[in-house]
Amino acid sequence: MNLRIPGPTAVPPEVLAAGAAEMINHRGPEFAAMIARTTEGVKKVFQTKNELATLSASGTGAMEAAVVNMMAPGEPALVITIGEFGDRFVNLVNAYGGRLTQQDYEPGQAADLNRIEDALKDNPDIKLVFITHNETSTGVTNPILPELGKLVHKYDGLLVVDTISSLSSVPVLTDEWDLDVVLSGSQKGWMTAPGLAFVSVNERAWAKAAKNPQPRFYFDLKRHTDSAATGQTPWTPAVSVWFQLDKSLEMMLAEGLESIFARHERAGKMVRDGVRALGLELLADEGVESNTVTAIKVPEGVDGNQWLKVARDDFDTVFAGGQGNLRGKIVRFGHLGYMTDDDLKAGLEALKASLERVRK
Ligand SMILES: Cc1ncc(COP(=O)(O)O)c(C=O)c1O
Repeated sequence: MNLRIPGPTAVPPEVLAAGAAEMINHRGPEFAAMIARTTEGVKKVFQTKNELATLSASGTGAMEAAVVNMMAPGEPALVITIGEFGDRFVNLVNAYGGRLTQQDYEPGQAADLNRIEDALKDNPDIKLVFITHNETSTGVTNPILPELGKLVHKYDGLLVVDTISSLSSVPVLTDEWDLDVVLSGSQKGWMTAPGLAFVSVNERAWAKAAKNPQPRFYFDLKRHTDSAATGQTPWTPAVSVWFQLDKSLEMMLAEGLESIFARHERAGKMVRDGVRALGLELLADEGVESNTVTAIKVPEGVDGNQWLKVARDDFDTVFAGGQGNLRGKIVRFGHLGYMTDDDLKAGLEALKASLERVRK
């Protein structure tokens, strides 16, 4: 089966095998050595010297951790949303009693730095900004991250970035871009099963968290980094996924970040070229297309759900559909993590053959 969804992604056999190992004592020396190794490895991929917490949670857990650690009840917060995952920050800010200012974009559009600056100028009490780097629901990568940290800091704010479906596949320069809180999840480009989430926290963010009265427990980031410094986690970790991560990091660091980024750039281009060659249109505006997931508009007269079903049942290829308002309107083709050119070519062939069948 060719799993062409934007996560969970395929896991290499060596990584699967690593996850099948017998349990160890998570309070013992083997786990301590592993957590030290993986924390260093993940930090290399994050391109950061900041502290890093590894949570036993899906990506949404990391998002919730960012909200409960950084936002006080009643605090004004700006959420930039270009799709479903931006909307998840909206829901989290509302759930924890933030005073929300929401900036929306049309599906397929990227966020605009000038509009964000206008919002910060118009709302000088906003000191907390949330944004999604790579919007998995629309196949758009926001290109403004290198400048956004500086902009938010100019207004004395703190920036939280969801890089769940980008970091580990495309460049995210956490320190160089001065990103305060950065989130990722194991089931994306990390070539690991779902179950672990990563949160990097810089000094600015720690200072804010220390003063934050928001109640928090499981996702209290300080507990996680303090525990990690002693070779443990505060709660029982997802040990099997951690074994996988240990192995996948070894493979990723052996491949090298530049090679990983080049591979994803090539994959994105190959899929976009292949999709356009079929006469299909992309949802993303030109120039902001994601190199980890491509959102394809379902052509007029085609039943999008049927297209997905035929691809799965008759061509052994699993694509993702649209979420929310985009349900039935787009097909999403994942190209991140462990993949070969042949997997992508086969994906494009399945896309074509299934479309021809549903068009009949
Ligand atoms: C950009 C983005 N943010 C957040 C999430 C949520 O992560 P999870 O489904 O692991 O909770 C995802 C997962 O699909 C994502 O792609």
